[in-house]
Amino acid sequence: MINKKICMLGASGVGKTSLVQRFVRSIYSGKYHMTIGVKIDKKQISVAGEDVTLMLWDLQGEDEEFKIRPSFLRGASAYFLVVDSTRHETLINAFAIQKMIETELGKEIPFVALFNKSDLVDNLQISADEVQDFENQGWQIMNTSAKTGEMVEESFVELTKKILKIS
Ligand code: GTP
Repeated sequence: MINKKICMLGASGVGKTSLVQRFVRSIYSGKYHMTIGVKIDKKQISVAGEDVTLMLWDLQGEDEEFKIRPSFLRGASAYFLVVDSTRHETLINAFAIQKMIETELGKEIPFVALFNKSDLVDNLQISADEVQDFENQGWQIMNTSAKTGEMVEESFVELTKKILKIS
C-alpha cells in the first residue's frame, strides 16, 4: 500500500475542511468551525489499478494573524491550493502561498488549484480571463463545490494521478 501526504492550503474559510469532509465522508455541513493548527484525515483510493492511502493534512487557513508553517509541509507529495471563488482576495492569497511553498521546499511538487464554492453562481468574483492567465502560468484549475460535490472526487483523483505521474 502506498501512503501519500496531501496538504490543503489556502486562506481561511475557503472550504478546505468542507472539501475533505465531502471527499472522505460524503457529507457537507453549512456550519463554519475554524480549523486550529492541523486536522489529519485519510482515505484510500484506487487510481489506475494502484491502491493509495491519502493522508490529508487540512491546515489552518491563512489570515492576518496566521501564516502557514513550512514544517507542516514536510513529507508532502502534493497539495491543493484552495480559493473561494466568491472572494477575489483568496486568489491573491493562494498565489502568495504557492510562491512561498516553492521557496520553502526548494523544489516543485504537484498541486491543483481548486476554485471552490462554484455553486454560488451569482457571486463569483474571478473572471474567465484571470483563470486563463493562471492556466497560462501552468496552474491546473478545477471548479469545485463541497456543497454539491461537483468535481470533488475528480480533483482528488487528478492530484493522485499527478503524484503517481499518470497522465
Ligand atoms: P479554515 O478552517 O478557516 O481554514 O476554513 P476552511 O477553509 O476549512 O473552510 P470551511 O470548510 O470551514 O468552510 C467555510 C465556510 O464555507 C463554511 O460555512 C462552509 O459551509 C462554506 N463552504 C465550504 N465549501 C462550500 C461550497 O462549496 N459552497 C458553499 N456555498 N459554501 C461552502
